Amino acid sequence: MGMAGATLRLESLYRRYGKVTAVDDLNLELPAGQFVTLLGPSGCGKTTTLNLIAGLERADGGTIHLGDRDITKVPPNERGMAIVFQNYALYPHMSVFDNMAFSLKLQHRPKAEIRSRVGRVAEALSIGHLLTRRPGQLSGGQQQRVALGRAMVKRPAVFLLDEPFSNLDAALRARMRTEVKHLHQSLGTTSVFVTHDQEEAMTLSDVIAVMRDGKLVQYGTQHEVYGKPCNTYVATFLGKPRMSLIEGELERGADGVAFVAPGMRLELGTEAGIGLADGDWPKVAAGLRAEDVSLGEPGPTSFGATVQLLEPIGSDTFVELGVGGAVVVARVAPDYRVTVGETVHATVKPGRVHLFDVASTNRIVR
Ligand SMILES: Nc1ncnc2c1ncn2[C@@H]1O[C@H](COP(=O)(O)OP(=O)(O)O)[C@@H](O)[C@H]1O
Ligand SMILES: [Mg+2]
Repeated sequence: MGMAGATLRLESLYRRYGKVTAVDDLNLELPAGQFVTLLGPSGCGKTTTLNLIAGLERADGGTIHLGDRDITKVPPNERGMAIVFQNYALYPHMSVFDNMAFSLKLQHRPKAEIRSRVGRVAEALSIGHLLTRRPGQLSGGQQQRVALGRAMVKRPAVFLLDEPFSNLDAALRARMRTEVKHLHQSLGTTSVFVTHDQEEAMTLSDVIAVMRDGKLVQYGTQHEVYGKPCNTYVATFLGKPRMSLIEGELERGADGVAFVAPGMRLELGTEAGIGLADGDWPKVAAGLRAEDVSLGEPGPTSFGATVQLLEPIGSDTFVELGVGGAVVVARVAPDYRVTVGETVHATVKPGRVHLFDVASTNRIVR
């Protein structure tokens, strides 16, 4: 259909509201056909960015390109985009059919074409039986489908979705997530999805753009941002439970570099010093993810710790450990026998210690 081939490029984009810079020098390339998520806490500028892309807000600086075309000043209805809002924004007095047909009617499409396009999309979203109802007669999940359908009927070059599942309960949210992923796989439309939910971002996205205070912090695949977070903000925002951070120092020894903190010494091997200049090394924080910490026999990357809390989640149990005033979370199998107050050996998987410079919070590249 030639619809999928639209790369979206934001360059030095700004948007200010009085003293607040909602979008602050944002540079972002959203590759054609990919599912890109803007991820960050409430107030970090996700909605504003989406509205700038849609043309619903005017940029105070910078440009937006769709393919080779500069669309910075193009009116919203000429951008070939469709947006799904957080609150659905359906027309309450119109039937589901008329809601979905609205944009096509505005374009004066023939009646038969409108009927077939709405019908096909409604079928794909399993809302074909609801076409004569009004939005008020639908459940939240059904309204969400209608809002998605209304956007799909337009066959946009770019799909924009602003926290579309935030009003749904957990089970429905998970199902809609899977459905949207299937839809994206079959349509291949460039999609920009906004969420504050890191789990949602990781399960859905080809690429994740992590934002903070209107700025881009890290851009990469789920694998990259989760596996090599560029600073402690990204490291602790992605992943559940949160990555444990322990402040300490690096020491040079005969066997390479070791991370040392109260009650803890982790041999990092000969490769660990790379990226650090000679001379004084900075104060560092070691970052440990629960899945990289297990309980068992002592070894070169293990430390003694006291069990403080057990959090069973069915498939695994998370064990909160106290070590020299710091807290580290380990992951064990659900049938692993351990009790609160017990002293244990925790072992970190080799090569899985993340290091951050405490002063700058940036990852120390290794
Ligand atoms: N219309 C507006 N007037 C004033 N401030 C706004 C307006 N819209 C957004 N903001 C501010 O801009 C920042 C980013 O908001 P927003 O893009 O809605 O964030 P997010 O979608 O990530 O929660 C926030 O500080 C918010 O208060
Ligand atoms: Mg928002």
